[in-house]
Amino acid sequence: MGTTIMVLNGPNLNLLGIREPGIYGTETLADIESICKRRGEKLGLEIDFRQSNNEGELVGWIHEAGRKADAIVLNAAAYTHTSVALMDALLSVGLPVIEVHLSNIFRREDFRHHSYVSKAAVGVICGLGSHGYELALEALAKTLNTTQEA
Ligand code: DQA
Repeated sequence: MGTTIMVLNGPNLNLLGIREPGIYGTETLADIESICKRRGEKLGLEIDFRQSNNEGELVGWIHEAGRKADAIVLNAAAYTHTSVALMDALLSVGLPVIEVHLSNIFRREDFRHHSYVSKAAVGVICGLGSHGYELALEALAKTLNTTQEA
């Protein structure tokens, strides 16, 4: 069995490309999915890439990841700052989690400075746009030991 990473995206990220491009850039979520799949292939990782605007659906996918995946990359978007339910789900499944944000949440409004997801994450990457997703996959490949080369 290969190594599977569930890459989960929260609310409004389906609108990337048209949503506040000055903050989030012009890449679409489909572009980010392609970037993740390309990088995953190089790293020997299977990428299961999903997006939902619904908190409960994200909780269900985290539970599913606990049964089927080896790690989670999560951009919980606005739920980052509000969701005890997502934090509890992540802590329940106990998989390695890397939290990603396209924007640098610490340069933005105060309410974005707190993350419930961080309490369940091994690492956090923010402010680097879609490259942050690639860096998260690289970090996981290293931790999970899927890459052949040094
Ligand atoms: C975001 C940052 C969040 O504060 C915001 O609610 C988002 C996107 C990011 O990727 O920069 O929707 O997670």
